[in-house]
Amino acid sequence: MSHHFVEFKDVHFHYPDGSPALNGLSFRISHGESVGIVGANGAGKSTLLMHINGYLLVASGSIVIGDLRLDKRTRQDIRKKVGLVFQNPDDQLFMPTVFDDVAFGPLNLGIAHDRIAERVAEALGTVGCLKLKDKPPHHLSSGQKSAVAIATVIAMRPDILVMDEPASNLDPKSRRQLINLLKVFEHTKIVASHDLDLILDVCKRCIVIKDGRVAADGPTKNILSDKVLLEENNLELPLSLQNNHEQNSTSIEKNIPKENTAMNELEKLNHLLHHWKEHNDEHAETYKEWASKAEQLGKNDLSAALNKIYGAAKNLSSLFDEAMKKSA
Ligand SMILES: Nc1ncnc2c1ncn2[C@@H]1O[C@H](COP(=O)(O)OP(=O)(O)OP(=O)(O)O)[C@@H](O)[C@H]1O
Ligand SMILES: [Mg+2]
Repeated sequence: MSHHFVEFKDVHFHYPDGSPALNGLSFRISHGESVGIVGANGAGKSTLLMHINGYLLVASGSIVIGDLRLDKRTRQDIRKKVGLVFQNPDDQLFMPTVFDDVAFGPLNLGIAHDRIAERVAEALGTVGCLKLKDKPPHHLSSGQKSAVAIATVIAMRPDILVMDEPASNLDPKSRRQLINLLKVFEHTKIVASHDLDLILDVCKRCIVIKDGRVAADGPTKNILSDKVLLEENNLELPLSLQNNHEQNSTSIEKNIPKENTAMNELEKLNHLLHHWKEHNDEHAETYKEWASKAEQLGKNDLSAALNKIYGAAKNLSSLFDEAMKKSA
């Protein structure tokens, strides 16, 4: 199924209590695309994603994944290729230990028992949770549960990675690790999230869902900079684009009385400094991670260079602190 695509044609679905959730949803995602799914609460994003691996089945319309039309008969095969991270990690974790939960998928795929420990360690290492392997999942914090839920899916090495609000409980470092993971994942990825900065960072294409239908579909940069479209869907510009808009909003600035302008500019600068520092600190951690990866690969020169970049980023961080104090 390496040539797989995901095609929804006029899909309708309502929950058993009669709530309509998908109302004629159609789109096609080609192999290797990175697609963000955004929309207001209740728009139908989770319902859409739960259809991609057959967890929910269409009431009418059709879904085709690669060369298989999704139905009761084919969904077991399709699940071997489509890895879905649920919005609520409690829906994903049900075994006595974290190890067992992460091992569950690979065991079902028929991976040899002597290879399982390696798979589990690799997946848990990727999300920074190796030390949790013997804990019962219900003893984990929300963020740890989310990270382990991601590991259960990565361990299956899916061809299509589908994630529903994967970053909502993650701390900034774990969120950055997730973004890096998604960036290097070379197959199809479909991510629903209200974290529009993450979508902007990871997905080239973005689909807006409204009332169970496609409201807009196009390059992420275009969709996520369309203020009117976003507002119509209870969304806001991603933070990283808000500054551009503020910097471009000269007409608003013209209306600010002169005596207030300096104060407002200083406030804006202080806000920007916080934002720049946050990004710098996140990047610094990434340089450090890659320095140790380079060292593990025997690339000591490269590791030393990356460590120098890390040191410089740390110095920059204290310069941001100094500037923030002076602008406060
Ligand atoms: N188990 C359920 N039973 C009945 N109705 C449901 C159920 N789950 C969702 N719905 C309804 O289906 C619609 C779509 O819900 P869905 O969870 O797909 O939205 P969403 O876009 O993922 O929202 P959010 O941003 O809050 O995660 C909503 O109107 C919701 O109330
Ligand atoms: Mg949802």
